[in-house]
Amino acid sequence: MNSEIAKIEQQIKNFTISSSDELETFRLKFLSKKGSIQELFKFMRKIPKQDKAAFGKSLNELKNLAQDTFDQAKITQTDTHTVFVSATDDISLTSLPLPVGSVHPLTKTLQEIKNIFYRLGFNIADGPEVEDDFHNFTALNFPPNHPARDTQDTFFIRKDEDPTIPDLVLRTHTSPVQIRLMKKQAPPIRSIIPGRVYRNEAVSPKSYFLFHQVEALYVDRYVSVADLKESLITFVKLMYGSDVIYRLRPSYFPFTEPSLEMDIWWGSKPNGKWLEILGSGMVDPNVFMAAGVDPEQYSGFAWGMGVERIAILKYGISDIRTFFDNDIRFLHQFI
Ligand code: DAH
Repeated sequence: MNSEIAKIEQQIKNFTISSSDELETFRLKFLSKKGSIQELFKFMRKIPKQDKAAFGKSLNELKNLAQDTFDQAKITQTDTHTVFVSATDDISLTSLPLPVGSVHPLTKTLQEIKNIFYRLGFNIADGPEVEDDFHNFTALNFPPNHPARDTQDTFFIRKDEDPTIPDLVLRTHTSPVQIRLMKKQAPPIRSIIPGRVYRNEAVSPKSYFLFHQVEALYVDRYVSVADLKESLITFVKLMYGSDVIYRLRPSYFPFTEPSLEMDIWWGSKPNGKWLEILGSGMVDPNVFMAAGVDPEQYSGFAWGMGVERIAILKYGISDIRTFFDNDIRFLHQFI
């Protein structure tokens, strides 16, 4: 009998398990009810009394050996990190580089804008994308019948016949956050507000129903148009280099007086065209009053810049839709 035990022990030790099939073969051969070790247990009855203990002990050791061998092999088989290394592999080599993702051009542009204004002493604020009519329009001095309030431009979340229930909209610009900031914090205020805005516009190479703006609000005593112009010119020079070609044009917004727009020359002279990148102006006294700031004591400037426009100029992109298609061939250019 002992020679039988020794024989099986040798078989276990010689058994190589390198696949799940072999693992199962091992189990059937040594560990199952009909396996060779269980067969030996049947001989227990026939062993003389004085040898029983020693025989039982050897059998248990054999069984444990088989079980341990099985358990060990099972871990190796199911461990997905197992790497089969041949004697000629150099395991000290570093692994192959994994493909790295790229930063989206809008994220990249936004990051650059934030860095510039951070250097100029602005902090970063934000506000909700679902706004009420008061913050998106009324407090910003939009007259009741202003065309921007029209469903053609605005996505309404809630519009009730009952005038006591305020309309809710997807914000059409980041300017409502100006009101929220002034209501929350006494001047001086020097903040930029990056965020998404929505407009109910037909999709074309030039317009999309979703885009991004960076609003700015600067409120203090004695803030002047000269401060606004200086901030804007400093920004475009830091963003595009000191040879950037720009112009400031008079414009109109209900919430600023006077108002300006800034254009950047896109292309090389004489071929190219002006591209508008932002609207800006001195905060209208009515806006200050709606937000609880005394216009006799304070003045301020504000702007809202289009992030897509700024990225288009920076990277020479011709179709706004490419920012949202997530075509990997487009995105890979911005590694
Ligand atoms: N909110 C305006 C828009 O979306 C842009 C703008 C113009 C923002 C003038 C301002 C501003 O803060 O002062 O068209």
